[in-house]
Formats: sequence, C-alpha cells, structure tokens
Amino acid sequence: MADKKAQLTIEGETWDFPIMEGSTGPDVVDIRKLYGQTGKFTFDPGYKSTASCESSLTYIDGNKGVLLHRGYPIGQLAEHSSFMEVSYLLLNGELPSADELYDFENTITRHTMLHEQLMTFYRGFRRDAHPMAIMCGVVGALSAFYHDSTDISDPEHRRISSHRLIAKMPTIAAMAYKYAVGQPFLYPDNSLSYTGNFLRMTFGVPAEEYEIHPAVEKAMDRIFILHADHEQNASTSTVRLAGSSGANPFACIAAGIACLWGPAHGGANEACLNMLHEIGTPDRIPHYIERAKDKNDPFRLMGFGHRVYKNYDPRATVMQKTVREVFDALGVNDPVFETALQLEEMALNDDYFKEKKLFPNVDFYSGAILSAIGFPTTMFTALFALARTVGWVAQWNEMISDPGQVIGRPRQLYTGPTQRDYVPLEKR
Ligand code: CMC
Repeated sequence: MADKKAQLTIEGETWDFPIMEGSTGPDVVDIRKLYGQTGKFTFDPGYKSTASCESSLTYIDGNKGVLLHRGYPIGQLAEHSSFMEVSYLLLNGELPSADELYDFENTITRHTMLHEQLMTFYRGFRRDAHPMAIMCGVVGALSAFYHDSTDISDPEHRRISSHRLIAKMPTIAAMAYKYAVGQPFLYPDNSLSYTGNFLRMTFGVPAEEYEIHPAVEKAMDRIFILHADHEQNASTSTVRLAGSSGANPFACIAAGIACLWGPAHGGANEACLNMLHEIGTPDRIPHYIERAKDKNDPFRLMGFGHRVYKNYDPRATVMQKTVREVFDALGVNDPVFETALQLEEMALNDDYFKEKKLFPNVDFYSGAILSAIGFPTTMFTALFALARTVGWVAQWNEMISDPGQVIGRPRQLYTGPTQRDYVPLEKR
C-alpha cells in the first residue's frame, strides 16, 4: 500500500509522488513536495480536486448520497440520537456512555450564560441588523471576554473554549432574535435540554411560563443534528485556515460564521424560502425552472445542487420527513411546502437537472419547518451557524492537535504585470 505511486511527467522529466489511502473514499496524491521537486504548482480554484487535510470526523460519498459522522449514518443519528450526543461523538470520536453524556450535558449547561457586559454589546446594533451580522460580531467579541481560554497550545483552554462556544451559541442566537423583535433577553434555564432552552430563550417572555412543544423540541434538535458537521465545506475550511495561523477559537468561529452567511452556502435556507414565496403558486414553477436553466439569467434554484452530492442529499430526506411531522403536530398546512414538493418533482424530471445531477440539498425543506416553528427567514442561517459550531469546533481541535499542522497558505498563478519602474505622477 505504501508503495502506491503516481507519476507526473513534465516536458520529458518524470517524478513519483506517493499515493495516500484513507479508510474509505478516494485516495489522494501527496503533492507536498511537488513545488520543491518540479518548481510547479497545481491549479485548483474552488478545491474541486484538492484534499486540504486528513480528517477522521465526517465522511461523504456524494455519488451514493451517504453522510457519516465518525462512521455513523446521518439517518440513524437523526432518528435515534440527540444533538448533545452527536456533539460528543464529533468532539470525542465515540458515542458517549450514559455517564459521559450526563457529564457532557452538565458541562455545556454550565456555560450557557453570557458575560453580562456582552448584553450591552447588542444595543450597539441597529434593531433591523441581520442576525448573522450580530452573530459575526458577538462571537468574535467572545475573545475579548474569555481570555482564560484563548491559549491554543493548552488542551484545557481548547476544551473550555470549545464547550463555551457550543453552549453560548443558542444564547447568542436567541438574543439576536429578541433584539430584533424588541423583547427582553431571557437568561438560560439550566433545567431544560439544550434545544428546549434555546426555544424558550427565543420564544418565551418573562411575563409567563413558556411551554415547550415536545414535537417542536424534537424537530429542532434533529435539525441541529442535520447541520452539525459536513467535512471540509467552505465555512469549515475557513475556520481551519483562520485557525492555522494560531488565531484564537472565538475569532476562528466568527470567520466561519461570516463564510456561512453567503447564499451559496448556509445563506441558501433563507434564500430558498424567499424563492418559494416568490414562486408563490405551483403554476408558476415552470417559469422558474426555465429561468434556472437559462445561462443568461443569474437565477438558480436555491436549495438545489451541491459540490459533493451528485445524488439526493441524505439530510434533505430526513428534513422532508420532519416537515410532515412538525406540520401534523402543529396542525399547519403551508402552501409553500406543497410548492416545494412540486418544484422538486418537476426539477427531478427535467433533463437539465438530471444531466447535471442536481438534487435538493439540506436547505430545500428546512425553511418550511423553521417558519412553521415561528422563526423569521433572517434567523435561518443563524440556526445553521448555531448547529455547525460543533463541527467547526471539532474540526478546529482536530487541526490543532495534528502534529503535522502548518499555516494554510495557497499559491497562485500570477497573471498581472511583470516588474516595471514607477512612473512619476506628472508623467502619467
Ligand atoms: N440551479 C440551477 N443550475 C445549477 C444549480 C442550481 N441550484 N446548481 C448548479 N447548477 C448548474 C450550474 O449552472 C453549472 O452548470 P454548467 O456546468 O452548465 O455551468 C452546473 O450545475 C454545476 O454547478 P457549479 O456551480 O459549477 O457547481 P458547484 O459545485 O461549484 O456549486 C452550489 C455548488 C451548491 C454552490 C450550487 O449548486 C448552487 O449554487 N446551489 C444553490 C445554492 C444552494 O442551495 N446552496 C446550499 C448548498 S447545501 C448547504 C451547505 O452545505 O452549505
């Protein structure tokens, strides 16, 4: 196995490069010595063929529509597990025992409050600030409040900052919502589950008891599981790249949140529901399908297509089932969901989508559930960020603990002017 090699011939000269094998999935050609030996770089904008790291967290087989966390299929985790359990699994590599889960939940619960001074931070934002703008700012600001856990060379600091990030994210997201609607912030209630606590901090008010709907709590927890990690996606790679310079974890996760916000990534859930509202009724679907196929029209079907999945996104399968469960539990009948179902059917039967292997992704159905629960569209990506924090943190920890870790520093194909002399202003 160690002898597998790839050969590269450039202008008649041939070099050998080792081939590395993972536990499953495509092998990789180790080109770390390519530049040193040949004086050439590889060119791969968008990293379509580049493995940026070794990782043992999450595996995706995009052709088969498979997603595994530490080996466990996402469908099984969504069905039988909880977000706290999946968080433990991602961070520690194994499912917890009952005692380990109890201790982990207790630890997370004890970090849910925010430094009181951070509350005043919110008031600096406009009331109509996008929750993701607030999340970027407040999460980045955590590094100004928790100096006692920013020494990344200390495993204990890394452990505490990881727990703090996972624990405080629901409080931060709920407060972003409360600030927008002008209601008082609610402190966390440590007697509740991670997800129940988030729902209460978001929708509860101090004037009365908040009753957590069990079906909503279960669905929300499942949505968090579905978003927990997704190997080396854009925001995770951003976190890793930021972390590779030695930046503190709060700053790295803030960078991940910024990257997630874009409509090609986590921002697609908000964009998708807005698109479904714009389509409005099923009779208008063909017009939007034609627009999505038109090369001269920038419109794309949001919630459709994926860099890695060339098959149905397994998260979308669970999401679609969860929509029905939530609608049944809440007695909701949302015409937007019907439009989504018909849009999916029409797109999947269309040659353009078939040829390009474009299938619904996790964001296609999440908006329907989240709005049935009561979230405004602007909160959708903030919820994605809340859940993805565990993946970011686990990936960041994996990177920092890797003895071979070096600063990420891509090269380029330079196409600008070659060296020339400065021209004084009067001669230009
Ligand atoms: N609607 C119409 N055409 C599409 C779509 C779409 N949603 N997605 C891809 N295509 C076409 C694209 O025009 C291109 O055609 P051609 O080969 O003729 O130029 C081809 O399919 C390949 O697309 P690409 O943009 O080269 O593929 P990519 O891997 O760079 O992009 C993507 C992946 C997710 C950015 C893209 O599919 C997209 O923009 N989808 C809509 C946004 C979306 O739903 N994003 C959420 C992703 S899942 C959540 C997450 O993990 O972030």
